[in-house]
Amino acid sequence: MTALSVPAASVTVRSQDAAECAPAEVKAQAVEHADIAGRVDQESVPARRARDIAVINSAGQDKPLTLLNLPGRDLDQEELLALASSIAANPDALAPHIAFDDEQRHYVSLHRDTHVDVWLLCWTPQNDTGWHDHDISSGAVAVTQGTLTEHNLAIGTPSIETEIHAGSAFSFGPDHIHRLTGRDAGSVSVHAYSPPLWRMGQYTLGAGGQLRRKSVSYADELRPLDDMA
Ligand SMILES: [Fe+2]
Repeated sequence: MTALSVPAASVTVRSQDAAECAPAEVKAQAVEHADIAGRVDQESVPARRARDIAVINSAGQDKPLTLLNLPGRDLDQEELLALASSIAANPDALAPHIAFDDEQRHYVSLHRDTHVDVWLLCWTPQNDTGWHDHDISSGAVAVTQGTLTEHNLAIGTPSIETEIHAGSAFSFGPDHIHRLTGRDAGSVSVHAYSPPLWRMGQYTLGAGGQLRRKSVSYADELRPLDDMA
């Protein structure tokens, strides 16, 4: 098993706009898309607030939050970020759980109690969660190996993509809707949620483009549903 490496954090932002070379009749729409993309900022896309795992851990070094000293209550986003980052910085403990599967995304529960659950997820470029929310839970994602792509669903513009590279972590609230895919083969991430995941919302598109939410169990593997365009 290759040891996990945690290089300096970086985030790559990618827009799906394609105004250049577009026919005249679609240029106005493309400009509108560009305008919407220009309003996308760190507040509206949590992944664009991704921080360096090493910096997060350094800031909390006096009292690191780990699985051994959880406070016995629900965690806020900053605490989830600290917890995911401290776990991500211990590659020797994660290595035995790492495996990859193009068909069924490999994931392992690292911890679950009444206030928080923590998962290790392994990604290939074929792995895709589909669009989903986390019901009432806040969450944090720390990428320890490779690169993930976070997609944010947007109305009136193509979805927004943000790449999260190894060494970066971000958090989000229960209002967050996203889709995660593995950009690189061999990508690994640590996810922490509070309160623990129980029900989640998975989104599908009907034949007419109407959006539907399906409530699913946290124990189900998230993947694009059949009728999702
Ligand atoms: Fe998620």
